[in-house]
Amino acid sequence: MNFIFLGPPGAGKGTLAAKVAESYKIPHISTGEIFRAAIKAQTPLGQKVKAILDSGALVSDDITIELVKDRLSQPDTKNGFILDGFPRTIPQAEALENIVKIDAAVNFDISDEGVIERLSGRRVCKNCSQNYHIKFLKPAKENVCDKCGGELFIRDDDKPESIAHRLEVYRSQTAPLIDFYKNKKLLVDIDAKPAADIILAEFKKKF
Ligand code: AP5
Repeated sequence: MNFIFLGPPGAGKGTLAAKVAESYKIPHISTGEIFRAAIKAQTPLGQKVKAILDSGALVSDDITIELVKDRLSQPDTKNGFILDGFPRTIPQAEALENIVKIDAAVNFDISDEGVIERLSGRRVCKNCSQNYHIKFLKPAKENVCDKCGGELFIRDDDKPESIAHRLEVYRSQTAPLIDFYKNKKLLVDIDAKPAADIILAEFKKKF
């Protein structure tokens, strides 16, 4: 199936997407992760988008749509995929309709307080990008990635001023997608508050 994961920053989209990708053997395509990899590799794209990501604003629709179009043309997407963090605006959703058919838009339901608690405690491996949380998903050894031994860090956009801006951007530009997909009868709500494995079990019941 072709899934979109929709929801506020820090709702747990990336965490669930990694689990679904593994269970369903489909690729997890995160536009945020693609941008962060470009920043790390200091490519021209990375240099162009770094300040935008740090501030919590959105990269332009043109750049993002082109990037997703290219990624969806890869053969590993033929048996399904998860688009995590795309589309994020109505023009992106309209462009996606001309690229591929979507089977479900999974909407992660969580309060602002939940978002702030998750983002302010998130830690990410510098090396392999594995996510942790200081309360909900602790590494075995403080500040060290269980998977690869890399050092953990705080994303620049997880600082308080960026979190507030990302929530505003979400409300004004991304939340309208809920009605967009509801009108197309593709919206499936998921309670994002429980632990990730409980959400995965719920997801498997629905799909
Ligand atoms: P992106 O990386 O997509 O950021 P986001 O949507 O803000 O989402 P996050 O990655 O912050 O959160 P998440 O929902 O994946 O939560 P996670 O699983 O990590 O985008 C970053 C930036 O790139 C954007 O701001 C923008 O600039 C640009 N960009 C990307 N796509 C774009 C687009 N389409 N158009 C334009 N610009 C774009 O979980 C968060 C924390 O909570 C972790 O610590 C995790 O361990 C913990 N956690 C997760 N699930 C649970 C749970 N069930 N219980 C307890 N803790 C949990």
